[in-house]
Amino acid sequence: MTLSWCCLLVQVVFAAKLVLAADFHAAVQLNPKDIKIMIESKNGEIIDCVDIYKRPSLNNPLLKDSKAQIMRDIANAVAEHEDWEMKTVPVEQEWHKNGKQCPIGSVPIMRTNPTVFNLSGSFPPLSVANISPTNTAGPPSRTEFAVAIAANGPYRGAYVLLPVWKAARLHDSESTATFLIVGGTVDTGFRPTPGRLPADVTNQIGVGFFADGGDNNPRLSVFYTPDGGKSQCYNLACGGFIQTNKDIALGASIVNGASGVDDHVPYVLVSIEKDAAGPWHVLVNDTDLGYYPRSIFPWLFPEAVANVVGGAVLNTWPGGKHTDTVMGNGRRPPGDDKTAVVKGYIAINAAGSQIVDRPTLGVRTAPDCYNFSVLGYNEDAPGINVAFGGSGGPDCVGLANVKVDLSTPNNKA
Ligand SMILES: *[C@@H]1O[C@H](CO)[C@@H](O)[C@H](O)[C@H]1NC(C)=O
Ligand SMILES: *[C@@H]1O[C@H](CO)[C@@H](O)[C@H](O)[C@H]1NC(C)=O
Ligand SMILES: *[C@@H]1O[C@H](CO)[C@@H](O)[C@H](O)[C@H]1NC(C)=O
Repeated sequence: MTLSWCCLLVQVVFAAKLVLAADFHAAVQLNPKDIKIMIESKNGEIIDCVDIYKRPSLNNPLLKDSKAQIMRDIANAVAEHEDWEMKTVPVEQEWHKNGKQCPIGSVPIMRTNPTVFNLSGSFPPLSVANISPTNTAGPPSRTEFAVAIAANGPYRGAYVLLPVWKAARLHDSESTATFLIVGGTVDTGFRPTPGRLPADVTNQIGVGFFADGGDNNPRLSVFYTPDGGKSQCYNLACGGFIQTNKDIALGASIVNGASGVDDHVPYVLVSIEKDAAGPWHVLVNDTDLGYYPRSIFPWLFPEAVANVVGGAVLNTWPGGKHTDTVMGNGRRPPGDDKTAVVKGYIAINAAGSQIVDRPTLGVRTAPDCYNFSVLGYNEDAPGINVAFGGSGGPDCVGLANVKVDLSTPNNKA
């Protein structure tokens, strides 16, 4: 049970390959006449501002039955944008430096530049077999996690401030990420009990910063899985996420990700939340980015049972040794006061209220390389802080103690 939760989580975050591969081309097949303007940033990213009703992801067959409703929601969002015109952009991204904005009635879609952003190659699915404690070294590639999990729900969402670090060391074929995930179960008989997870966490939505070996830039990304990780979709690649915001481009880099541990690190507030009856929305810096229609999830994902914060690294065993790609800023908790920290984690309970909520579980797949530590309550950014990260390295011993229960005295973190 323990292991299967862990591996579901593992699959969930990184099993994007199949769906992404299948639907990737649909996403790039943009009809040129649906592009209102094109914006190029100095770092070479190209953003197409695409007619909000013609974006390719609306072709996802799962959305067929809810398309009329989605069109109405988009129209409402466009109407809202009209009042917003004078507002500053909620998160500074490289392409904003160009001085142009996407016009009202369009959404920014980044052209995937194969040399800098190819999550499909970066996050292969992991199976239960290759994370078992007997497979302690060597290929195949696997994803190392250091995440804290709160399971005191039911929840209607979570907030957290994610630090934006530019990875100091990242192998070409690898990836490193910092994220928030909310997960739900299709087991309608499951009653949330503090610290307990269901056997399946089938529905999941995540938001965070992903970098791969192209240029190490932290890139804002969303992802979801409707089936416990068997298929999974990042950003707008295969439909599902209905972006309504015209100022934030998924997959595009954030300005000024910090690189040295002594640099000033920017934080971005991310949240995933829903109304009692509505769909799950993703917000960035308190601004609605868009939502995942209920129809893409089995059981419609009415509430979440797990909120997950922390980091992951894809380890491809370069040169036959455990990778030294960094997680966070490369410092490893506990006992190092300069580690990366996700700040002010707050849950939204089933009644829609914000609550302080201490993570009671966690996953550490290679604690000698990458670890997390629940630091406690932060008064400045009300909520719980969690330190995470590490430098990896050839001497890491992986796979011990995969899942940890923080509620028992021996594991108090
Ligand atoms: C978040 O928004 C505030 C103002 O709304 C802005 O000052 C801040 O720079 C934004 N954060 C980022 C990382 O862009
Ligand atoms: C992305 O990576 C996959 C797997 O490594 C590869 O098959 C695919 O061609 C890559 N895509 C691009 C656009 O480079
Ligand atoms: C990982 O962090 C926990 C505290 O969160 C600590 O108890 C444990 O010893 C650490 N593990 C390693 C291998 O450093």
